[in-house]
Amino acid sequence: MSSKTYEIRPNQSVELLKELHILTRDGKMNQDSRRKLKQVYHLYQFIEPLLNDVKEAKGSVSLVDHGAGKSYLGFILYDLFFKDLRDSSHIYGIETREELVTKSGELAARLGFAGMSFLNLSVAESTVSDRLPPAIDIVTALHACNTATDDAIRFALQKRAKYVVVVPCCQAEVAGVLKRNKSKSLGDALTEIWRHPLHTREFGSQITNVLRCLQLEAHGYQVNVTELVGWEHSMKNELIIAHYKDLPRRRPAERLHEVMQRFGLDELRERFFVDA
Ligand SMILES: C[S@@+](CC[C@H](N)C(=O)[O-])C[C@H]1O[C@@H](n2cnc3c(N)ncnc32)[C@H](O)[C@@H]1O
Repeated sequence: MSSKTYEIRPNQSVELLKELHILTRDGKMNQDSRRKLKQVYHLYQFIEPLLNDVKEAKGSVSLVDHGAGKSYLGFILYDLFFKDLRDSSHIYGIETREELVTKSGELAARLGFAGMSFLNLSVAESTVSDRLPPAIDIVTALHACNTATDDAIRFALQKRAKYVVVVPCCQAEVAGVLKRNKSKSLGDALTEIWRHPLHTREFGSQITNVLRCLQLEAHGYQVNVTELVGWEHSMKNELIIAHYKDLPRRRPAERLHEVMQRFGLDELRERFFVDA
């Protein structure tokens, strides 16, 4: 990407960019905002091809963003892609903090972004909520806390999403089980990998993402894991993109179960379920 593409695009909402503090109140860019815009485009370049693919295949796109927070991602996607579509495309933001849901709704109304809705639900609640359609094309979750990413994956599987894009946050559940089972020797030197508390946490995170990838593969998805370079809001930069291709499921399902068994995580089978 040339540095020129980090400039504001002709059709971008200046009001939105000010709300997101990408532009200053007087409409100027500084060093800091230039960096923010660069990060936004960097993430968008991963998601735009998926939006185009669904739009071409189906004529419209439904996207659910879990743990939306201030709906930074949803607003950017809407501004850059959805805004000019003349179809039933829609973005739903799912967020448990009511004040953020209200604020996002107000901002969308002010900007005239009619194809955006914000629902004050947990990710788990949204999976069964009749306020969402039975099928969704793209599911995103950016730094959704702890097991909210896992719930987002479950949601995507139930809604038969064609694409799943997650940047996981810390996940404490797996590390908790590793810690609890630390004293039960698994029989070899491998337990050294998570003996120290810091390693328990880091290895817990790592293995959680490995299990998430295997779970998606065991449901027929092709999975790519990459780094969200330059995303400086957080230390957690792992970007997992899954594309439903109805791939063979048996081997990843077996591997998933083997890994869980090997590391004493059998009690979490329900979390990383495979029903195929
Ligand atoms: C770290 S913020 C990330 C916000 C946004 N996705 C971003 O990247 O800027 C995580 C958000 O997820 C929300 N959240 C946490 N657990 C959730 C759950 N189970 N269901 C819905 N939202 C959740 C929190 O309230 C918070 O706003």
